[in-house]
Amino acid sequence: YMWKTFCLSLLVAGLFSCQEGKRYQSFKPGEIWLDNTEVHINAHGGGILYDGGRYYWFGEHKTEGEAGNRANVGVHCYSSDDLYNWIDEGIALAVEPEGSGSPIEKGCILERPKVIHNAKTGKYVMWFHLEPKGMGYRGAQSGVAVSDRVTGPYRFLHAGRINAGKWAENASDELKNAPVPALEDAYSGGSLPGHPDSLNIHKRDLEGGQMARDMNLFVDDDGKAYHIYASEENSTLQIAQLNDDYTDHNGVYVRCFAGRFMEAPAMFKHNGKYYLMMSGCTGWAPNAARSAVADSILGEWKELGNPCMDADSATTYHSQSTYILPMPGHPDKFIYMGDRWTPENAIDGRYIWLPLEFEGERFVIHWQDEWKM
Ligand code: DGJ
Repeated sequence: YMWKTFCLSLLVAGLFSCQEGKRYQSFKPGEIWLDNTEVHINAHGGGILYDGGRYYWFGEHKTEGEAGNRANVGVHCYSSDDLYNWIDEGIALAVEPEGSGSPIEKGCILERPKVIHNAKTGKYVMWFHLEPKGMGYRGAQSGVAVSDRVTGPYRFLHAGRINAGKWAENASDELKNAPVPALEDAYSGGSLPGHPDSLNIHKRDLEGGQMARDMNLFVDDDGKAYHIYASEENSTLQIAQLNDDYTDHNGVYVRCFAGRFMEAPAMFKHNGKYYLMMSGCTGWAPNAARSAVADSILGEWKELGNPCMDADSATTYHSQSTYILPMPGHPDKFIYMGDRWTPENAIDGRYIWLPLEFEGERFVIHWQDEWKM
């Protein structure tokens, strides 16, 4: 009996010390979220890779002030075994020194980095939205970097526009045959007309390649990877297949939600169907989220409306989607990951993680001040 009691008390003490080593046992959306070094997690516009039994969170390392929205440091990586408590794994992809002329030189805009693992090559592949320094948001390029180790260092490969010379699979004959309006009538940075297809931006960019700003990646069960991005001056979302090693596109892509100005796309799969959560297009200011469903990734996509159900649904609870992660241990639930941007002091941006669940054919997200999985 004494021996049993002794063992039991050892077990209980062990459990308690484990819990003590962990700062958090719940999510508190919008609050300061400290890493193991007691610093607010710095991984904005991020995404998660589950690899070898651990979660890896990659995101934009922001710095102080408004200038902190530019890439002054690089892509930060954290790891966790419970999603509540995160260990600082350092900078996975570092920007190149100022004046180096590299596409990813310090001061460029590098947003919404995402990492996937390629089972065939064994490499970790990072994609991100890149605006080379001094171009504002006119570059609309996508960058790629690779690493043999999940936490990096990642090696920058290339950046540019997408699928030059290739029409979208579902580009209509009407669009293919329509003229591209003369330069003086065409878009030059102002607001776009009611239906941007009248400017035929898809055809305008045929030769030079399609634009890509806000982006995400999705790997399907068959190992095929997809790049989902706001294209055509943000007016139209495009979904493009990646090649077998995930480091480039393979020429197959579609246009979706033409003229709907979808940003911040996040894709997930549930019971054989594909879902997208997106935002509208209002800069750093939050707006009402959108959602959509499809039987196949390349469409047709059907819009399902705003998944947010409670007060502040019109601003997505003051956040913008960045990733949607299956909730461990709950096959029908997911975790919505969003950013609450603070553009005037970029480093102070907060993370809004909330449970996402299904109601019939659509998914919904309710606000919670604090919650556990
Ligand atoms: C909204 C996008 O979702 C962000 O990633 C960022 O590009 C801002 N716009 C810039 O205004």
